[in-house]
Amino acid sequence: MWQAIVDYINDEEKERISSILYLFNISGIWEKDRELIVYFNDTEEFKRFSDCLKDKKIFYEKVKDNIKWNSMWRKFHKPILIKPFFIIPTFFKNKVPMGYKKIVINPSFAFGTGSHATTKLCIEFLIKYVKKGMKILDLGTGTGILAIIAEKLGADEIYALDIDTLAINEAYKNIKRNRCKKIVVADNIEDKDGYFDLCVSNIILDELIKLKPVFQKILIENGILILSGILEGQGEEIIDNFMDSFKIISIKNKKDKNFCWTGIVLQKI
Ligand SMILES: C[S@@+](CC[C@H](N)C(=O)[O-])C[C@H]1O[C@@H](n2cnc3c(N)ncnc32)[C@H](O)[C@@H]1O
Repeated sequence: MWQAIVDYINDEEKERISSILYLFNISGIWEKDRELIVYFNDTEEFKRFSDCLKDKKIFYEKVKDNIKWNSMWRKFHKPILIKPFFIIPTFFKNKVPMGYKKIVINPSFAFGTGSHATTKLCIEFLIKYVKKGMKILDLGTGTGILAIIAEKLGADEIYALDIDTLAINEAYKNIKRNRCKKIVVADNIEDKDGYFDLCVSNIILDELIKLKPVFQKILIENGILILSGILEGQGEEIIDNFMDSFKIISIKNKKDKNFCWTGIVLQKI
């Protein structure tokens, strides 16, 4: 296993580095002071990552996939409570609190353990807007967490889509782990015009804007669109781009350690 240590000088730089991480097959990430420590199992993947950050000095070393790493990973991944869900990593063995539904997610590879503010915003909106029997699209599924939550909330048919094969593999495993039966892991939704009652998408701003015609096409009239992955201050850009065919239903901000993120709910008009 390779360990790459990348210094960042400010939050903007950290955001830039973090935002490209999901393009790679990483085994984990650890944040310490002004350093991001990224773990790779695959040397090729590590090389691709270094090439992408040519402007940064990356200190790297080979490390053992040892107990220290495992315990660090465990310390990093804590259960997340978003009523009625108790989202836990695979290695968490304690009891689920009364009245909560357990969701188990393997935190190893793809994005979407539930700990990130952007995912939490989506979960909170799903709890509010998913109704029994709905058809839902989770565009950019990562670990599959949002699709799994949608099924547990009573959705009838859920499509989970991602461009990253690694994410797709992880999503499959998590879907099985949570005994979900209504999720279709798909790589395209070309024939699904006017099909979905609700679409949730937690990707970066530029990608969300690019995907607007897709959202427009696949949603039914009055369909709900939940967007996340938007930094505070970028909301205006979403609104400017989407207002000709969507109206705003709700906007919510959530802080994590370094950033404030915005989640936006729109409705197709
Ligand atoms: C930030 S993660 C979100 C994961 C999870 N849905 C969550 O909310 O925690 C974004 C995911 O979107 C995927 N993605 C990025 N662009 C995409 C696109 N154009 N179509 C489908 N998936 C995309 C990435 O591979 C990544 O798995």
